[in-house]
Amino acid sequence: MNKERKLIIAGNWKMNKTVAEALDLMRGLKIELNNVKEVDVVVCPPFTALCEVSKAVLDSNLRLGAQNMSEHNVGAYTGEIAAVMLKEFSVRYVILGHSERRQYQKESDALISKKAQAVHAAALKPIICVGETLAEREGGQTQKVLETQVRGSLAGLSKEQMAETIVAYEPVWAIGTGKTATTAQAQEAHAFIRGLLVKMFDETVARRVRIQYGGSVKPANARELMSQPDVDGALVGGASLEVRSFSDIIKGSI
Ligand code: PGA
Repeated sequence: MNKERKLIIAGNWKMNKTVAEALDLMRGLKIELNNVKEVDVVVCPPFTALCEVSKAVLDSNLRLGAQNMSEHNVGAYTGEIAAVMLKEFSVRYVILGHSERRQYQKESDALISKKAQAVHAAALKPIICVGETLAEREGGQTQKVLETQVRGSLAGLSKEQMAETIVAYEPVWAIGTGKTATTAQAQEAHAFIRGLLVKMFDETVARRVRIQYGGSVKPANARELMSQPDVDGALVGGASLEVRSFSDIIKGSI
């Protein structure tokens, strides 16, 4: 696929995979994907598997991501994980503000922007998730919601930091539901987000930022979604848990 920006496809394993299962998946992915150079491929295991998966990616072109990170560097924050701890395992990317964390952990845009700054301060790259619920889409609120989330979560980033930030547009109604946004809906939302980045930063930065689509991405719909001009990759949940489906998504996008 001939794209303005290099595609980035990340697997968000969520709360799945023991260490043994994670290594099993990695063995298969390395066989299938070791020659892929055209796409940046990232796997985001749970924290408990990061150590072992970090060894598995060493001799591969797969990159490692985490699913969350603390906004603090060190201290009395029970249950939290700091940037320096992720860096021990060669983590390069950190998913922030996933809709599940916005919903269940009540993460706000203000918190996500603090985390994004901590991620950049550690020279890691954030993947910042935004997206509307079904009620918001049906109520004609999609652009308003996206604007609030984009402005709030990316607040305080410099132009240089923004250029190294990945945004993931994930309509909440499409996550884990089997319903995917149409290519037209995805492109419209991505173009809207890129337009906001022009206003908040500048044209050059906005053209560099990669915007992933997420929400029931499968081998059958991935290529068409990523063929849209402003769709620069995918954040894949369920279909990233199996070697076949994740590698088919990636191979299909080349
Ligand atoms: P899904 O999840 O592919 O299972 O819909 C996507 C995500 O939540 O990142």
